[in-house]
Amino acid sequence: MMALTQEQKIDLVRIAKQARQWAYAPYSKYKVGAAVLTESGRIYEGANVENAAYPVTMCAERIAVFTAVSHGERKFQAVAVVTENGGTPCGSCRQVLAEFGTDTLVIIADENEKIRMEKTVSELLPGSFGPQDLI
Ligand code: THU
Repeated sequence: MMALTQEQKIDLVRIAKQARQWAYAPYSKYKVGAAVLTESGRIYEGANVENAAYPVTMCAERIAVFTAVSHGERKFQAVAVVTENGGTPCGSCRQVLAEFGTDTLVIIADENEKIRMEKTVSELLPGSFGPQDLI
């Protein structure tokens, strides 16, 4: 898979930022938007959805990945995550991303669309447990 162009990265960050507007985060007030670019070139979005029973909350990244997977996608080129301050994906989201490939690029940006960090899933979750451990 070819590396993303700067234009593709900027587009994906912009889409993640747009998705962030739908975050339901009345408790933490920390809104997160995510956009995943599939190998086939489609883009799926997600925003965090909190719950009064706090642990039931779901992160933006997992909503984006689960939406993509539930539409038949299983390979991802990149995922962009936008927060106010460029916060990085939580461990559970890293694990979910690792399931579908550790080479996926994770682009972390702030609300001004400034890219703060670019890492592969394997860099974010070294030595991860994955499908290869069970097969
Ligand atoms: N959150 C995400 O959506 N993604 C992450 O990777 C980190 C945390 C959300 C969950 C919760 O709604 C809020 O951010 C504060 O933790």
